[in-house]
Amino acid sequence: MLGAMERLPGFRDFYPEPLPHSDVWSADARQFIFNRWREVARRYGFREYDGPPVESLELFTTKSGDEIVGQLYNFTDKGDRAVSLRPEMTPTLARMIAAHERSYKKPVKWFAIPQLFRYERQQKGRLREHFQFNADVLGEVAPVADAELIALLIDTLCSFGLSSEDFVIRLSSRNAWQDFYQQKTGAAPGADAAREYEFFQIIDKWERTAPGENADKLAALGFSSREVHDFIQSGKPTAELEFILANLKARGLQDYVRVDYQVIRGLAYYTGVVFEAFDRKGEFRAIAGGGRYDNLVKLISGGKVNLPALGFGMGDVVLLELLKARGRLPRFDSHMDVFVLIEDETLRDISLRLIQNLRSAGHAVEYSMTPAKADKQFKRAQDLQVKHVVRAESEAYVRIRNMRTRDEVVAGFSDVSNHLG
Ligand code: HAM
Repeated sequence: MLGAMERLPGFRDFYPEPLPHSDVWSADARQFIFNRWREVARRYGFREYDGPPVESLELFTTKSGDEIVGQLYNFTDKGDRAVSLRPEMTPTLARMIAAHERSYKKPVKWFAIPQLFRYERQQKGRLREHFQFNADVLGEVAPVADAELIALLIDTLCSFGLSSEDFVIRLSSRNAWQDFYQQKTGAAPGADAAREYEFFQIIDKWERTAPGENADKLAALGFSSREVHDFIQSGKPTAELEFILANLKARGLQDYVRVDYQVIRGLAYYTGVVFEAFDRKGEFRAIAGGGRYDNLVKLISGGKVNLPALGFGMGDVVLLELLKARGRLPRFDSHMDVFVLIEDETLRDISLRLIQNLRSAGHAVEYSMTPAKADKQFKRAQDLQVKHVVRAESEAYVRIRNMRTRDEVVAGFSDVSNHLG
């Protein structure tokens, strides 16, 4: 039984800085990350959307693949509906766009920052809840869209001060793997989908599985480790990947990408180009992952809407670990501008008026809600690192102290804002 004071394993508490304990997460760092995500999405012309955190179980069970289905946080609600917390955003996005596809000009470029829930085995970089920046493009088949999306992914990581020395996008293609699979097995395209997906799953887990185990699993499907290894080593880009690489080169982003057929992605719905972002030193799990999923909207809409699509998801957990490790997080101060010090309680009402006026003018203002000694109030102002301390001297005048230069001026009430530059 979990006690009332216990937090569920794999879930996080977010506290304001300074953090009281190493076991909690920073609400300030989270906001910092969200702000950057939103800012870069805006620069690329992506619009924000959101959906419900609980969806019908069916939305996730048929489209995403066994791995994610095994991690669902699902239950029966009080209306006897089979529902699940969302483990990812993509099926919701597909449902939403299919419902109102005609109202939007193509290509649709949308982003969201959902909180997602997966009942995973807890490990470094993997929790049971995380926030994920999702950016997706719908209604564009050409690989220009893949390049645009990858450029957004690169710029998002760069916006945190990371460079090509810190991370790399490993670019791959399910088409290339499909060709490989079909050539070796002689299966017609799409004829052997379940076995093909089983094969993809082995490749997806390749790096995290013992070589002997990989060989056994491959042999059961009629492949040898050697031929799979050779195909990965050859790394010959498909025409589509060549195009994307050239497009990224034209933007000066070539150092951030490399073709790597080791990447294939675990989710079942991907159909073409796929990619993952990793730190260069290989210390952390994937920072982000995505690709094309041209059939998902059609599948989810029961054939009514057919829209090609692609996108990626970037989690906040690995990103934060990486930013910490590379010293890329700023200091999170209180950001208060002014402390209004109330020395004489007969001036409290006039001070409240002053506080109100300053806040209306956009200043962040703090003060002592209850009577307190002046030196205690001043100490609090210092702790908050405010730029100015203001105190009413009379009904008409205030004294303003610049905390950095220690200069003081006396000003009329209506004039205070002018001295707070
Ligand atoms: P995903 O690879 O399952 O893709 O997740 C994307 C990223 O979310 C991962 O690279 C990782 O940073 C983060 N992430 C995933 N699971 C966890 C976890 N349990 N704890 C912490 N972080 C996690 C998707 O979800 C796709 N729906 C992305 C996408 C969008 N594809 C197309 N559009």
